[in-house]
Amino acid sequence: MKPFPKDFLWGASTSAYQIEGAHNIDGKGPSIWDAFSSIPGKIKNEDTGQVSGDHYHRFREDVALMKQIGIKVYRFSIAWPRVMPTGKGAANEKGIQFYSDLIDELLAAGITPWVTLYHWDLPLALQLEHDGWLGAEISDLFAAYADVCFDRFGDRVKNWITLNEPWVVAILGYGLGEFAPGRVSHSEPYLAGHNQLLAHAKAVEAYRKKYAHQGGQIGMANNCDWREPLTDSPKDQAAAQRALEFFLAWFADPIYFGDYPAVMKERLGDRLPAFTEAEKQMVKGSVDYFGLNHYTTMYTAEATGPIGEASMYGNAGLADDQDIELSLDESWKRTTMGWPVAPWGCRKLLEWIDDRYGRPDIYITENGCAWDDQKIDGKVKDTDRIEYYQAYLQACQEAIENGVKLKGYFAWSLMDNFEWAHGYSQRFGLVHIDYQTLERTMKDSAYWYAGVVRENGV
Ligand code: GAL
Repeated sequence: MKPFPKDFLWGASTSAYQIEGAHNIDGKGPSIWDAFSSIPGKIKNEDTGQVSGDHYHRFREDVALMKQIGIKVYRFSIAWPRVMPTGKGAANEKGIQFYSDLIDELLAAGITPWVTLYHWDLPLALQLEHDGWLGAEISDLFAAYADVCFDRFGDRVKNWITLNEPWVVAILGYGLGEFAPGRVSHSEPYLAGHNQLLAHAKAVEAYRKKYAHQGGQIGMANNCDWREPLTDSPKDQAAAQRALEFFLAWFADPIYFGDYPAVMKERLGDRLPAFTEAEKQMVKGSVDYFGLNHYTTMYTAEATGPIGEASMYGNAGLADDQDIELSLDESWKRTTMGWPVAPWGCRKLLEWIDDRYGRPDIYITENGCAWDDQKIDGKVKDTDRIEYYQAYLQACQEAIENGVKLKGYFAWSLMDNFEWAHGYSQRFGLVHIDYQTLERTMKDSAYWYAGVVRENGV
């Protein structure tokens, strides 16, 4: 691989509910994921995040592993109900202490923290009392929580991500019912998305007004797969473009242009809430960089009949709202999640973002893959993961050569973890976790990644 720019950031990501465990100690309140994963049938093997990787107790060991891999930046999330057990009111000092200690430990190891404020673990009380992301109060409640985090951690944290993947929260949480809070609807996702955008913008406004002296940057992590037109017919090309707009532009257009894409307004009518003029102004320009989570690619065609299996399976969103049909090439290699490995899609998506949003600084805040790797004789050989990272980083390199301002890359994930509805059946980590003993083992991919970081080190 050719060298990356000298100032390129090399990192890894995790999220609170997926690794922390310690679900009910030191004053932490329950989250919607604690509740959701206690409902029989919702999570594979009835797994929960109650113990998970026990990172809450083992974070010093985990920071030592990061240091061994050589990563320069680490993205983790703060559990809102750990800091505010019911989502509002006084902060829980023990929760604050945990994140404060983690931040100090990272800084002492020479690792820069990138902190996500919301990675899906909404305080359960806010779901019950305020209807979660559907309620009118949620954006103010989020901004108040964010303010506490800026106040308590902002002296040391200079890189913030407000929300992780509002698309997933809206579509899988409120549309398809696969993730917490498990609702199924064709209108709620668009309201949940809208309130997330307002929450994000209010938090950013507070950050810029009250905490500018901290000198940090703030953004959002949006997810998007690439959508390749199945044929070069104008219909399929339009379908692929429409799919990208319903996926990524849903959140990025309001932020860069002040409103939703025209195609969403036309097709959704009243189901898509409208911004007031003041809200448009507040949302527009509310990021300092473009955060992108990217995993895979699918072919896209204009739907000609009822929406088929692949469209749901490929994370199309509400495919019938878009009149698209997804498919894949059977010759493509697929991960254990069933996601095609198609690195060229990563380059195309980066170029699409670069072009549409006026050449923003982009950080890939997540990229990675699940493989069924096992520990054998004390080692984890995960050749498939190395090949995936190699190919996707190559695609990033090509995008940079083509002028894309890609500034950093965070592997998903630092360690195996609770993969939401899949429980522990899917392993995304550079570090293997034995869930019986909670013992950590560096995988071959972690050694390989350490090599890449070293080669590109300053
Ligand atoms: C993302 C999510 C992560 C992780 C990853 C792999 O959507 O932000 O939490 O689960 O996908 O599925």
